[in-house]
Amino acid sequence: MKEYKYGQLIIEGKTKKVYEVLNDSTLCLLESKDRITAGDGEKSHDLKGKAAISTATTAKVFQLLNEAGIKTAFVKVVNDTAFIAQKCDMVPIEWVTRRLATGSFLKRHQGVPEGYRFNPPLQETFFKDDANHDPQWSEEQVISIGFKLNGLTIGKDEFDIMQRTSLVVFEVLEKAWATRNCALIDMKIEFGVNQNHEILVADIIDSDSWRLWPSGDKRLMKDKQVYRNLATVTQEDLDTVKRNFEWVADQLDFLIPPTNSLVVILMGSPSDEDHCKTIAKHVKSLGLKFQLRVCSAHKGTEETLRILAEYEGIHTKVVLIAVAGRSNGLGPVLSGNTSLPVINCPPFKPENISQDLWSSINVPSGNLPTIV
Ligand SMILES: Nc1ncnc2c1ncn2[C@@H]1O[C@H](COP(=O)(O)OP(=O)(O)OP(=O)(O)O)[C@@H](O)[C@H]1O
Ligand SMILES: [Mg+2]
Repeated sequence: MKEYKYGQLIIEGKTKKVYEVLNDSTLCLLESKDRITAGDGEKSHDLKGKAAISTATTAKVFQLLNEAGIKTAFVKVVNDTAFIAQKCDMVPIEWVTRRLATGSFLKRHQGVPEGYRFNPPLQETFFKDDANHDPQWSEEQVISIGFKLNGLTIGKDEFDIMQRTSLVVFEVLEKAWATRNCALIDMKIEFGVNQNHEILVADIIDSDSWRLWPSGDKRLMKDKQVYRNLATVTQEDLDTVKRNFEWVADQLDFLIPPTNSLVVILMGSPSDEDHCKTIAKHVKSLGLKFQLRVCSAHKGTEETLRILAEYEGIHTKVVLIAVAGRSNGLGPVLSGNTSLPVINCPPFKPENISQDLWSSINVPSGNLPTIV
């Protein structure tokens, strides 16, 4: 396992510190603090144990999002209070998605009753500026300022990517929380641009990021609003807030769906490995598990069928990808002997593209369909 060495403090905010990772300049370490704040930092208390709860919450939420195929900056947890993330230039915008009207929305839209339901969820953008209480910005304002982050200019396309991703993040988490009979009312996320100019969901997502109402009942709220609502703050109040945050982190264990699907990439020859690794990279980016196997249907038919039997015998949803050029025996042999779906993906080269293509789609009649 890779060891990370931490360097200089890059930046310290209200709730966390960001450090360099010495042996990998594309990464950083995000260390949470035992500090809770509200009202752009006007209200602030020490809350022992909060850093660990926040780190656990963020790690579980990002894991869930990664499994749903959403690109996040999260890499891995390193200890109770810190995780490694891709180092980003942060987009200084809060992306808010709301299912029900509550909170600041009601103040800005008088006459709308609390609980008004947005279908599809309503999306808003706020410029991160504590001194001016994070003013709401329109799409045109965000685009016109032309943020340049890690060499990427935030224009219309980049705005659309972040807006659509925010909606997907909300919907994935809303569905996940619904399985615990909890209503996700609204949430905010932030994005960063990594050194490959990719836009990633970044920062953290914890009990400060959303409103969460068990059974859809506002009185049962389990998020930081409980703290925001306190006029005076006693130790007992802080204990309640902490217990709520712990409850949320614990519930997240039940939300993470077990990955019960598998993509098996079978190659006719070890020389096809590079092509298979390219396929595997895409499979992984979709949040799916994969395995690479070598088996030649021509030279090792029995071995191929034995490998096939292995995957037919497991209680997992399996898709087979057959990688074989020239006369593709592998795909048709697999598909003719299994009810599992088989996808042919021959390793095309300019000089053999037509032969490989025909050998993969022109399969004997009665053979289950294979797709290129
Ligand atoms: N993956 C990342 N790469 C680089 N910086 C990050 C990353 N994730 C978060 N940060 C930055 O870490 C800093 C500290 O976070 P913290 O949330 O404590 O700041 P803050 O005081 O709340 O300020 P802000 O209002 O900007 O969130 C912020 O400037 C945040 O943008
Ligand atoms: Mg912050």
